[in-house]
Amino acid sequence: MARFYLTTAIDYVNSPPHLGTAYEKITADVIARFRRAAGYETRLLMGNDEHSLNVRRKAEAEGLSPLDYCGKMEEVFRQVWAKLDISFDDFIRTTEQRHHLGVRRLLEAIRASGDLYEGTYEGWYCVSCEAFKQEKDLVEGACPLHRARPDWIRERNHFFRLSAYRDRLLALYREHPEFIEPETRRNELTNVLEAGLMDLSVSRPGSGWGIPLPFDEASVVYVWFDALTNYLSATGYGADEPGWDERWPADLHIVGKDITRFHAVIWPAMLMAGGVPIPKQVFGHGFVNFGGERMSKSLGTTVNPLEAADHFGADPLRLYLVREIHYGQDGDFSWDRFEARYDADLANSLGNLVSRITSMAKRYRGGRLAPSARSRLAGIAGDAARRYHEAMMSLRLHEGAEAAFAIVGAVNEFLTERAPWRVAKDPDAGAEVNEILYEAAEATRVAAVLLQPIMPGSATRILGRLGGAPDEVRLKRDDAFRPDRPLVTRVGAPLWPRLGARRARPSPA
Ligand code: MSP
Repeated sequence: MARFYLTTAIDYVNSPPHLGTAYEKITADVIARFRRAAGYETRLLMGNDEHSLNVRRKAEAEGLSPLDYCGKMEEVFRQVWAKLDISFDDFIRTTEQRHHLGVRRLLEAIRASGDLYEGTYEGWYCVSCEAFKQEKDLVEGACPLHRARPDWIRERNHFFRLSAYRDRLLALYREHPEFIEPETRRNELTNVLEAGLMDLSVSRPGSGWGIPLPFDEASVVYVWFDALTNYLSATGYGADEPGWDERWPADLHIVGKDITRFHAVIWPAMLMAGGVPIPKQVFGHGFVNFGGERMSKSLGTTVNPLEAADHFGADPLRLYLVREIHYGQDGDFSWDRFEARYDADLANSLGNLVSRITSMAKRYRGGRLAPSARSRLAGIAGDAARRYHEAMMSLRLHEGAEAAFAIVGAVNEFLTERAPWRVAKDPDAGAEVNEILYEAAEATRVAAVLLQPIMPGSATRILGRLGGAPDEVRLKRDDAFRPDRPLVTRVGAPLWPRLGARRARPSPA
């Protein structure tokens, strides 16, 4: 069976997840669920990035040891991911032993290649980015992302000869353009490479929080060098576990556009130096803004994903983020838009369709629909399934969602046109009523199969009502009608009640 190993960025734990960080995990989960359903042996890795200075400061402010604080935050993160139905297979923390072993082993391998040397770093450092900044990166003396003045530091560090990898990286982008997607990020980073690379400091003076260098215990590994290695540590590389090199390389790193550079420049260079294969693809998704503003704690513009999920369920939020945002570009979340989509796509369209089909099937056919050979919707559903498959394989997730909803739209039109409630007035038209309802139910079942990665709970409920067993779900390229068995339908409570008076909008966190 083909394998597929994908990862998300590991999160800083100095604050709980917000809608922006959740967006990344939701989209990665959609890809993972799609790959599993399409028959890949899939592994989704997520985790927490714990060695940052801001995490340590936050722990101190709360009067906890950094490790206790991180343990507490792990619970907070896991609860949010459970609520959003994120199906990760592994969760790594950078304070774990397997990770320490991984970082130390990779560092030793890089050192053996001769690409580490000692030197003095003098310059700016932004603690929130955990990054060394050049004067040209600053806007009016401040980090443009965090709007804070970086620290001026001068310290004796170990450096990685990143500059020596510029040409190999340019060749990689040229020969394997798919290594960074979307294309806009590749162009940005090609420009960065063409402008030249500076060597990178990979250690900081030891502060008791971080991974000590194996060959200089007074220093700790620079937090990005530490964090990037998590993807490799999770395979068992550090302990040289049997099979780690079958689990590696990763097929896909999903990360935000702000950190694509770390993943598509520094990370492959580290691996090349350490003699480890490089990942196949880095995808830099866009940012989710809130009401047009960058999501930021200090500006009070973060959205708590739990509020949206508590109020509406995880699936409407998942659908909104996948369908509304062109994957790879920035997008916007607003409660107005979210509620409008909920009513339009779910309450009025898909939810209403399922309840109409199941109640008519019960009333006119006793809940049992026999397969029918003639079917107009089979072609439409087949085309949509093919478009969906291609879109999902190439990470055009929004197009995947569109394709599934194209079936829903077609079934709605079909029912309006064929009006089974009118046909049913003729007592001799039982066969025709069956045929119409069977087609509608079967096409909607196909839509639910396609929607399963995006809305896992709801799709499973729909399949239950339309007589499709959830464990039958297998996404194939030409997944469409299966006119080989009757559908036994069930009526149930509305899947998504219209918001109406419930439109009590949670306030931003
Ligand atoms: N710890 C580093 C990543 C190390 S990976 C080896 C980090 N953490 S983070 O918590 O700041 O961000 C985690 C992920 O969330 C990143 O991929 C980041 O781009 C993403 N996002 C943060 N805010 C976001 C939005 N508003 N919208 C979409 N993604 C956002 O960076």
